Amino acid sequence: MKKLLIKGGNPLFGEVKIAGAKNATLPLMVASILCSDKLTLANVPHVSDISTMANLLVNLGIKISLDGTDFDLGNQGRVMILEGSNIINPVADYDLVRKMRASIFILGPLLARCGKARVSLPGGCAIGTRPVDLHLKALEALGAKFELSEGYVEGTVPHGRLRGGEIHFEKVSVGATENAMMAASLADGETIIYNSACEPEIIDLAKCLNAMGAKISGAGTPIIKIIGVNNLSSARHKIIADRIEAGTYAIAAGITKGKIKLIGVEDWILKGFKAELQSAGLIFNQISADVVEVSRQQDFINVVNISTNPFPGFPTDMQAQFMALMTLSNGVATIEENIFENRFMHVLELVRMNANIQSHGKIAIVKGVPNLKGAEVMATDLRASVCLVLAGLVADGQTTINRLYHLERGYERIAEKLINCGADIKILY
Ligand code: EPZ
Repeated sequence: MKKLLIKGGNPLFGEVKIAGAKNATLPLMVASILCSDKLTLANVPHVSDISTMANLLVNLGIKISLDGTDFDLGNQGRVMILEGSNIINPVADYDLVRKMRASIFILGPLLARCGKARVSLPGGCAIGTRPVDLHLKALEALGAKFELSEGYVEGTVPHGRLRGGEIHFEKVSVGATENAMMAASLADGETIIYNSACEPEIIDLAKCLNAMGAKISGAGTPIIKIIGVNNLSSARHKIIADRIEAGTYAIAAGITKGKIKLIGVEDWILKGFKAELQSAGLIFNQISADVVEVSRQQDFINVVNISTNPFPGFPTDMQAQFMALMTLSNGVATIEENIFENRFMHVLELVRMNANIQSHGKIAIVKGVPNLKGAEVMATDLRASVCLVLAGLVADGQTTINRLYHLERGYERIAEKLINCGADIKILY
C-alpha cells in the first residue's frame, strides 16, 4: 500500500496548475450517453475516479479515447473523446458502482436514451449513508418507473419516452439535480426543477449540454427550466477548474505561511470559502482573470466559525481542510457539518497529531494549539485524507499517511505539486 511521508515545517512557495474539476468531469462524461455523436472534453483531471467512470461507460458501450494533446482552446490538459453511438448494455454492475457513488448519474441518461436501465445501488460510504431517493423521485416525475431487486434499481419508461414535468427537491442535491437535468434534456416537453443545486459544476454541465443542443436555462439558480429536444449532438467542452483543489492549495499556502500561485482559477468559483479564508488571515491577489496568488503574511491564524451548506454556502468538501487550518488558530473555532452525517472522521486523526478538537454530532469545537506533531495517520475518505496532508505539511517531525488511494481519487499528482512548491514529501511504494 502506497504511503506518503511528510516532513513538516517548509513554507510552500511556487505555483500549481489547478486541474479540471472531478465533480464536473464525472457528470460531463455521463452526458456522452445522451448523444450518438462524439463528445470532446478538455482539461480532464488525472484522478482515479475518472478511470472508474470510464470503465463504467465502456461497459455500457461508450467508446472512449484519452490523450494528452492540447485542445484548440489552448493548453487544456488531457483531452477525452467519448462516443455513444451504440449503447449495448444499459447495466451498471455492483463491483463498479460500489467504488464510486457518482455511478448513479447514469440512471437518468440511460432512461432518456434507451428507455431502460439496471444500476446497482451505490451503497453507503465513509461519510454517510448516501441514499439515492431524490434521484429516483426526480426521474419518476419525468415518467420513469423503478423496481428494487437484489440491490439493483431497475428503471423503465412505460410511455416509451420520458415526459417533461415539475421536480420539487425537498433537499438540495447536486447529483440528483444533474441526473434530472440530463434526463429532462431528452424528455418530451418542458421540465422545471425547483430547489435545484446551484454549484459551479451544475453551471458547467448545463453549458456543455446546451452546446450539445439542449435547451437549459437558470443553471446556477434554484429554478432550472429545460425544454426537451429529440436528440443531442456532438460538442467540445473545456471542463471548469476544480474549486475544491484550488481551495485546498490555498490552505496549503496559508497553513505553511507561504505563497502559492493557483493557475487556471477564476475568482467566481471560489465563492463560498474565499471570504472565510481571508477572515482567517489569507491574502488573495487576483493576478489575472484565471491566476490568483494566495499567501499568509501575518504570524497568526484568526478564528473563523463555519457552517457547511449548499452553494453559495461553505462547501462541505472544504470542511476537513478548513479544520486543519483552524487547529493552529489563535482561539476556538466552531465547525458545523450540515450536509453529511459522518464527515468528522479526520477529527480523531488530527487529535493524534496534537490538535485539540471535540466533536458532538454535527458540531466540532477546534481550540487552536501552538503546534501539531507528526504521526502515522489513516486516511478514510478523499477530503479527510487531504486534511491530514495539510496538517503534515506544518507538523513538527514526520507524518505518514496510509491508504493513498483515497487521495488519488480526487487530487491530481498531489505529492508532485506540493514537492514543486518546496514540501518535503516522499512516496513509499
Ligand atoms: C456531490 O455528491 C459531490 N460528488 C460530493 O463531493 C459533494 O460533497 C456533494 O455533492 C455536496 O456538495 C460529486 O459531485 C461526484 P448531494 P452528491 O446529493 O451529489 C443527501 C467529494 O469529496 N441525499 O448533494 O452525492 C445526501 O446524503 C464528494 O468530491 C439524499 O438524501 O451529494 C447528503 O446528505 C463527496 N438523497 C445531501 O443530500 C439523495 O437521493 C447532499 O448530497 C441524494 C442525496
